[in-house]
Amino acid sequence: MPAQPAFSDLKFARPRPRPLVISSAESRANLLGLLSSADPIWIDIDADFTGLGADASAVIVDVPLNVTSNAKRIAELMGLLPRGLPKLFIINKTHRVEVVRASVLGATSISNRPLSEFDLGEFFRAEIIAAPQASDGGLRVAALVSSSLANILDAVLTDEAINIPTVEEASGEIASTLDGAGLESWLQTVREHHQGTLQHCLIVAGVMTRFGQQLGMSEDDVRRLTRIGLLHDVGKATIPTALLDKPSKLTDDEFSIIKTHPYRGFRFLSKQGILGTDELAAVVGHHEYLDGSGYPYALMDKSIGDLVRITTVCDVYSALIERRPYKREMSPADALDILNKMASEGKVELSLVRALARSLD
Ligand SMILES: [Fe+2]
Ligand SMILES: [Fe+2]
Repeated sequence: MPAQPAFSDLKFARPRPRPLVISSAESRANLLGLLSSADPIWIDIDADFTGLGADASAVIVDVPLNVTSNAKRIAELMGLLPRGLPKLFIINKTHRVEVVRASVLGATSISNRPLSEFDLGEFFRAEIIAAPQASDGGLRVAALVSSSLANILDAVLTDEAINIPTVEEASGEIASTLDGAGLESWLQTVREHHQGTLQHCLIVAGVMTRFGQQLGMSEDDVRRLTRIGLLHDVGKATIPTALLDKPSKLTDDEFSIIKTHPYRGFRFLSKQGILGTDELAAVVGHHEYLDGSGYPYALMDKSIGDLVRITTVCDVYSALIERRPYKREMSPADALDILNKMASEGKVELSLVRALARSLD
C-alpha cells in the first residue's frame, strides 16, 4: 500500500487553490472533514446557486447523479463556471448512469464514494500541482471526446438519435491532437482520466487515427478510422458493467451475452446515418478472425474486408495496452508479440500487424 499522503500536507504554489464543492446533505459531512484545510466554496445541490465564487480553481461534485434533476442542475451550474477547471466527480463506479453522466458533465477525474483522503490528494496532485500546460490540448480534447462518446452511450441506452456534428468535431479534434502531441501522450492522458468502455474507445480511436496518419492515408480515410474507433463498441452500453469488468474468466452464458455487443452497436448505428456500409461492417465484424474462430458470425478470410481487418488489429492492440482496475497496461512490444502470434495462427493479417508496428514507431 502506498503511504497515505495527507491532503493538508500538499505544497501548492500561491495562492492556494479553493475548490468549489457541490454536495448533498448526506455527502457534506464526509467532505467537511476532508476539506477542512482547503477553504472550500460550498454549494448545496438543493439550494440556489448563489455566491459561486469566481476564484474557484477546481470543482468537486458529490451528489447522486442517478437522480436526473441533480444532473440537470449540475449541467446548469457548469455552464456558469469558467471553462477548463479540473473537475472531480465522486460516484459509485459500478453504476453506469453515474459514470456516463459524470463524463457528460465534464469530469476530468472520478473517484469512488465516499471520497478518501488518498483520492483527494491524487486529484489535487495530478490536476492542480502538476497541471498540464495550457498548450497541452490533450486533456481538454480527451474530456471533450469522452463527453460526446458518453452522450452516445446514453443514446444507445435510451435508443435516441445521436448528434452527428458532435462526433465529427470530436473525430477532428483527435486527429489534430495526435498530429501535434503524438499517440503516447494521448494514451497517457486517456489512461489517467478515463476508464472502462470510454477509455477503450478513446484508445482505439487514437490507435486507428495514428495508423491512418502514419501510413499516409487521406484526411477523409483517417477520419473514417477515427469514427470507427470511437463507435465500434457502443453496443457495450447495453451490456452489464459487471460482465464487461469481470476480472475472472467469463462463464459460457456470460460470454454469449458479451458476444452480442457488435450486433447491438451495428443495429443502433445503422439507424443513425453516421456510418457508411463498410464502416458498419467494421463495427459488426471487429471480433471476427480470418480463421473463422471469431464472433458474432464466425466469418472467414475473404468475407472479412480490409476495414474490418484493420479495426480488429487495432482493437486487440488497444485492449492489451489499456489500463484496467485489475491490470496494468501491457507494453507496446509485448502487445505486438501477441498480435504476431495471432497472425502466425491465421487469425489476423500479418501485413496489418506490421503496418501497425510501423505506425507506432
Ligand atoms: Fe468489441
Ligand atoms: Fe473494442
